[in-house]
Amino acid sequence: MTELLNVEGLSITARLSGGDLRLLDDVDLAIGRGEIVGVVGESGSGKTTLARAVVGLLDKNVRVDGGSISLSGERIVAPDADRTHRVRGSAVGMVFQDASRSLNPLMKVRAHLAEVLRRHVRDIGKEDVERRSAEVLEQMRITDAQRVLDSYPHQLSGGLRQRVAIGLAVVTRPSMVIADECTTALDVTTQTKVVELFRSLVGELGIGLLFVTHDLMLASDLCDRIAVMNGGRVVEQGPAMQVLDRPEQDYTRRLLAAIPNWT
Ligand SMILES: Nc1ncnc2c1ncn2[C@@H]1O[C@H](COP(=O)(O)OP(=O)(O)OP(=O)(O)O)[C@@H](O)[C@H]1O
Ligand SMILES: [Mg+2]
Repeated sequence: MTELLNVEGLSITARLSGGDLRLLDDVDLAIGRGEIVGVVGESGSGKTTLARAVVGLLDKNVRVDGGSISLSGERIVAPDADRTHRVRGSAVGMVFQDASRSLNPLMKVRAHLAEVLRRHVRDIGKEDVERRSAEVLEQMRITDAQRVLDSYPHQLSGGLRQRVAIGLAVVTRPSMVIADECTTALDVTTQTKVVELFRSLVGELGIGLLFVTHDLMLASDLCDRIAVMNGGRVVEQGPAMQVLDRPEQDYTRRLLAAIPNWT
């Protein structure tokens, strides 16, 4: 499989008034085209820190002090080097937990898509903006694209808002998408639909998907491979079936044991 994202030995430290705190410790992770990799682990295990490192959205008090991140062979993160601004939004799309973080309440969906397209596609004309906006909503399985384009975020259901947010992440045709707990705020039925959408998008677009969730059941449904994080380290990773059916680490076994009705 062609490697798309390659995280190697990544270590990240936060500076706090009381001293330094290791947030990520020697993390290795690879994603290929057309592959869905789940990052799971309890709250505080470092999932979001890892996801944000890939797009260079780390907090000011945080620094990369070892290892690297490469995208399609180009090194985008290393100690003292951050080239993530070049890939953010164009080569890597991001979907957050809360669609309100991706959507401005004062802007119609049409304006959101136009803004992203104009920022990332040089010299794009008005007609192409319109065409690609409608196209991407159809790709999101939104049947009444014109109505949605003319809506403000609050006029849409939670599921539809999250579809629009995913559309915004893929409209620039990135090679990979990072989704951080992007289904957590949705009810189970809507969650299932969003997961199905992701699965077909990955197939259709050939993108890589880094899917961050604390929900192991969801990860087992969606992901080809799973990385389990604990205390800033990847403690176990492998094919989803293997990690969930035959976990090697006690930590993974404890996570699985905590799921009601896990068999
Ligand atoms: N800028 C920062 N300064 C200090 N500590 C931080 C900073 N950012 C994150 N942390 C700490 O790093 C740890 C990992 O945080 P992170 O948000 O990556 O966890 P997470 O796995 O995404 O958790 P959740 O499931 O709750 O979203 C937490 O203990 C958090 O408090
Ligand atoms: Mg998080």
